[in-house]
Amino acid sequence: MPQTLDELVSRYKQGVPESLLPLLQDIQDEFGFLNEEAIIRVGSHLKLPASKIYGIATFFDQFRFVTQGRYHILVCRGTACHMSGSFNVLKELEKILKIKEGHTTRDGYFSLEAVSCMGACGMGPVVKVNGEFHKMVSNSSIQTLIEQLRKRA
Ligand code: FES
Repeated sequence: MPQTLDELVSRYKQGVPESLLPLLQDIQDEFGFLNEEAIIRVGSHLKLPASKIYGIATFFDQFRFVTQGRYHILVCRGTACHMSGSFNVLKELEKILKIKEGHTTRDGYFSLEAVSCMGACGMGPVVKVNGEFHKMVSNSSIQTLIEQLRKRA
């Protein structure tokens, strides 16, 4: 059952900084990302400054600060994928979608994120869309993929 931010926060004892990571994870699991309101609410509950919470949360890859699109696109930026052209793929996606990495399109269909190695290094550059791998992608194949996803959306 969906929970409110207050319900989630109140499951944790006040003033216990060790609860920070599980609480942030719970909030992200429920709402899909961490927004400013959540950071401030967590800060006042755990007695931690918002700047410190941002600092800690940004250190961990699993936390997101923007809402995900219907299609969440991950571009591998690990070394092997970089060597096979993932930077160009990322730039092409930014151009096609008209957003920067870490953002979501205005229509809410696409979000774009650069991530570290996804474990398919021999197949780079690798892109993952909603959990589905696309291997050896090129600028033209990524364009085709986005067109197909737009038709489905
Ligand atoms: S470097 Fe891209 S999958 Fe490993």
